[in-house]
Amino acid sequence: MTNTLEIDGLRLHLPGAARPVLAGIDLTVGARETVALVGESGSGKSLTSRSVLRLLPPGATTEGRVAVQGQDVLTMDAKQLRQLRTHTAAMIFQDPRAAINPLRRIGDFLTESLRLNADTPAQQADERAVRMLDAVGLGERVLRQYPGQLSGGMLQRVMIASALMGDPALILADEPTTALDVTTQAEVVGLLDDLRERFGTGLLFVTHDLGLAAAISDRVYVMYAGRIAETGPAEALFDRPRHPYTAALLRSTPRLDAPQGRLAAIKGQPPSLKEELTGCPFAARCPFATQACAEELPPHRPVPGEPDRLVACHHSDQLADQLAGSAAHD
Ligand SMILES: Nc1ncnc2c1ncn2[C@@H]1O[C@H](COP(=O)(O)OP(=O)(O)OP(=O)(O)O)[C@@H](O)[C@H]1O
Ligand SMILES: [Mg+2]
Repeated sequence: MTNTLEIDGLRLHLPGAARPVLAGIDLTVGARETVALVGESGSGKSLTSRSVLRLLPPGATTEGRVAVQGQDVLTMDAKQLRQLRTHTAAMIFQDPRAAINPLRRIGDFLTESLRLNADTPAQQADERAVRMLDAVGLGERVLRQYPGQLSGGMLQRVMIASALMGDPALILADEPTTALDVTTQAEVVGLLDDLRERFGTGLLFVTHDLGLAAAISDRVYVMYAGRIAETGPAEALFDRPRHPYTAALLRSTPRLDAPQGRLAAIKGQPPSLKEELTGCPFAARCPFATQACAEELPPHRPVPGEPDRLVACHHSDQLADQLAGSAAHD
């Protein structure tokens, strides 16, 4: 069966950068699968997810392949792209207030894409809007309301309903709960997960919150400086991190089961896009780095005895115990 999303060797260059901002991303999302993409600010999570809809900054150039339902997005013409964005894949952004025009009624916002891009008759589009509002727990009256009349949590539900309007195979959610309070966050995450199951979509969930990634995802990709540092099933990866960056991220994440534990910030800064990189991009901040790390880019290698895992670290095998220990006891 084809994967819902397949990204192979995606490289993305931006004008003025000394190195590719995405340096060879390989990532898949299967049908009905929830995949989390995690990493620090600036690692390239949003650009990766935006590439799937080809929503890229001006002057960006790409290499590699991004396929949704087997169709290559990077070579689509305008008509195919419209079809992709209306019916095949949809994006939910971080801040619903910034993504929804405050001067238009919710009903118009929800039905616009179907009416304009798919020639759906207004009545049919309205009926679909009512069904999708119901699916996200909102009543029909919301259709006639304006964004300013709704809370942030309700507006994010409207965004989710809007993403479902075209019956997509894939939903891309880029930090969809960051602008919400904690209780509403949990509700929205639970809702996304229910809807994924009910409508059979794949979900790519972008977040810097490892707790959230662990709670919602089947598989995880950990991203650092435009590369995948490590990937694998969520439980295995968080229990037994194999990349020093993953272990450091876990140590800097608050844990409910170890409230007294100290949070260790990761020392140093991610490399700037003005710097060229040789070797492992994490080497400058890595407590285990050796000469080889500064000189040679570590390839992605399987983890012995652990299916479906890949890690890009020269010393991953020797560090296994130390990394797992540091994640469990801090
Ligand atoms: N439109 C743009 N023009 C120039 N540089 C950009 C643009 N968008 C992103 N970048 C740069 O590309 C890199 C990756 O950005 P991206 O937004 O994908 O990061 P991210 O992982 O989503 O971070 P965050 O957690 O802050 O959202 C960053 O260094 C960013 O400054
Ligand atoms: Mg982002």
